[in-house]
Amino acid sequence: MTQKRHVYLETYGCQMNVADSEVVLRVMHDAGYDRTDDMVKADVIFVNTCAVRENAEERIYGRLGTFRNRKKTKPGVVVGVLGCMAERLRKDLMESESHVDLVVGPDEYRRLPQLVENAFSGEKGIAVRLSRVENYDDIVPLRTDGISAWVSVMRGCDKFCTFCVVPFTRGRERSRSLAGVVKEVEQLVQRGFKEVTLLGQNVNSYRDGDNDFADLLAGVARVDSSLRVRFTTSHPQDMSDKLIETISAHSNICNYIHLPVQSGSDRILQLMNRTYDANHYLRLVARIKDRIPGVSLSTDIISGFPTETDDDHRMTLDLLRQVEYDGAFTFKYSPRENTKAWHMGDDVPDEVKTDRLNEIIELQREVSLRKNRELVGTTVEVLVEDDSKKSPDDFCGRTDTNKMVVFPKNGSGVGEYVRVNIQNANSATLFGNEISHN
Ligand code: SAH
Ligand code: SF4
Ligand code: F3S
Repeated sequence: MTQKRHVYLETYGCQMNVADSEVVLRVMHDAGYDRTDDMVKADVIFVNTCAVRENAEERIYGRLGTFRNRKKTKPGVVVGVLGCMAERLRKDLMESESHVDLVVGPDEYRRLPQLVENAFSGEKGIAVRLSRVENYDDIVPLRTDGISAWVSVMRGCDKFCTFCVVPFTRGRERSRSLAGVVKEVEQLVQRGFKEVTLLGQNVNSYRDGDNDFADLLAGVARVDSSLRVRFTTSHPQDMSDKLIETISAHSNICNYIHLPVQSGSDRILQLMNRTYDANHYLRLVARIKDRIPGVSLSTDIISGFPTETDDDHRMTLDLLRQVEYDGAFTFKYSPRENTKAWHMGDDVPDEVKTDRLNEIIELQREVSLRKNRELVGTTVEVLVEDDSKKSPDDFCGRTDTNKMVVFPKNGSGVGEYVRVNIQNANSATLFGNEISHN
């Protein structure tokens, strides 16, 4: 019997990639590979990559340098680039990075063991076909036990926002079966998971026959009333009233919606092909706030999209003020080859993008701080996740509305729900004391 082989895997990009990496680990595990966190022990080095912005790719190139050195020391090691960058760059990546043995896109992970086997005998491999049907429904992701699990429920994106590579790197939308997802969640509950996050690039465009995302969410929520159910990312276009009602009706579906708006300017939204205007978005937010009291909202914003003027930028700031998000992820526009926006040029100077970005960040920080301070004096329910990063004497966990809470340990444990009285807050974290646990 030969010695067991080891696979080392680094993951970049969005939560879909994190979930995909667990699929990759399962496929490799079933082919006889153990996972290792020690690159030196590895026979196979995989990096699951993101191509959404240029700086995401630059980071990966940095890592590829490290893997090149590893390969100099241990020439037999197989280096594979997986995920969105593999799909975007294909053979170019293989040509520019001579130490890369495998380039494998997100729909080809079932082939990894065979490709790796071939690579051990010196044959490089590219597998970047995108599929209309692959959803890995039958592959149980190899997860580490814990509190919270990612559950990928749909793949791909058909929205074609003009700035975005995802429709090209992930291919067309396709959903898993409702029954398959519910069964997976039942097993997760049996294993002790307390929280699941249903994942998709446009999770709310999920469809399985007559069942839509609201039906899926309700089905998952009914598995166990003490299981927290989260989901991301929701596209404003697919945020139906039925879905809002479903979130409102189930106490264990978290009152937190990540609802990226990207810009507050109708002109820019149209150039982005976002399919809504600012008013339509604001009316949607009003309906959500009305039906889900205390709901927490977050967004993604791009600064410096082609032709964006100071006026357009001010409209984004106005929208942020009106919505009062609890958090925002902000990005400088990064041109991506072959997207529609690529052909619009990149005419906003980098300094202007940076200035606008900083203004957005500063405004959002003020709003988040104000909203968090409103919670001082209230009692919130927290699912305890881990030791706080700063002190082993404190726990951290999140509220149903996805706010991070830090509090001194006082008898409760990881995975329990505790009630915490909030005493202090900054723009990112709430601080308090545990008052009871159940
Ligand atoms: N499917 C999700 C997320 C896609 S990627 C959605 O539709 O919201 C996450 C975020 O990256 C996007 O929401 C967008 O704000 C940002 N993004 C995507 N492409 C970008 C680009 N070319 N430049 C800058 N930011 C980008
Ligand atoms: Fe990209 Fe738009 Fe699809 Fe989101 S909805 S993944 S931003 S194309
Ligand atoms: Fe990046 Fe691909 Fe996700 S481009 S954001 S890893 S879908």
